Amino acid sequence: MNRAPRHDSHTEQPGGSVAGARASRADERFAESQGASRRIAQSFGRAAAGYDEAATVQRRICDRLSLLALDHPPPPGAVVDAGCGTGHWLPALRTSFGDRLLLGVDLALPMLAQLRRRQPDQPCVAADVHALPLADGSAAAIWSSLCLQWCRPEAALAEFARALRPGGVLWLSTLGPGTFAELRTAFAGIDDARHVLEFVTPERLDAAAAAAGFAISARERRRHVACAPDLAGLLRAIKAVGAHEVGDDRRRSLLGRQAWRTVERRFEAYRRADGLVEVGYDALYLILHKRP
Ligand SMILES: C[S@@+](CC[C@H](N)C(=O)[O-])C[C@H]1O[C@@H](n2cnc3c(N)ncnc32)[C@H](O)[C@@H]1O
Repeated sequence: MNRAPRHDSHTEQPGGSVAGARASRADERFAESQGASRRIAQSFGRAAAGYDEAATVQRRICDRLSLLALDHPPPPGAVVDAGCGTGHWLPALRTSFGDRLLLGVDLALPMLAQLRRRQPDQPCVAADVHALPLADGSAAAIWSSLCLQWCRPEAALAEFARALRPGGVLWLSTLGPGTFAELRTAFAGIDDARHVLEFVTPERLDAAAAAAGFAISARERRRHVACAPDLAGLLRAIKAVGAHEVGDDRRRSLLGRQAWRTVERRFEAYRRADGLVEVGYDALYLILHKRP
């Protein structure tokens, strides 16, 4: 999983007119974000073939976002699925909101290959949601489920606002700071590497949405859990949906046996009465309307 970059302003462009040191800092940050995007695309690309089978929590989160979206239907016009993955939610969007132009956008080509294989007539495009290949105000609605945690939230929300027409709706789900708290605790102090992505707080998300020009029409926070017979099984399940990239501070070699045993022992605290261990997803849902 990718660590949220230190820089969130989308106004300072790399290589722009800003001079000297400031420009080179922006270049560094840009290079950093490009590297992160490449790693994210690679890890989701590797997961693409088995994604749908493994994405149980992801589907539950789409189900919930879908119910919220039904209370906030889009105006007439195109609907974009930003970070669509294999496109498994596009048919549901068509069922909910009728026959209209639907466009899937994703960074990972193997995800789009799965989409094209299963839905050959469904338009989709490989692009970064920080730079959507859409004209200003051209979309009536954007659906984005579980993509924003891989992005610079301020920049991505500003880009969604740019692409939406005034009155257009953004149906958004992402992960909050309680996500994988069990893993964070179990790995604490084991080494200097990062083992869990840093997630956005609801307060930062609200502020980013307001700054991008959105009004908040609905919000919800819900815990979902994934479970497995043991910690190794849980980590395999997280890897199977491509969600294991944690950024530049990630560990580059295997944990020693002793360290792994310590983590496993600590993780026993999360064993449930049914014998399984669990991790929590702190799902944040927002329905946002672009202000006129
Ligand atoms: C957890 S999957 C979610 C896929 C789908 N929305 C779902 O609910 O199952 C996250 C997806 O976001 C894509 N993604 C991550 N960062 C992206 C970016 N900056 N631009 C476009 N897609 C991105 C990944 O390639 C991946 O397919």
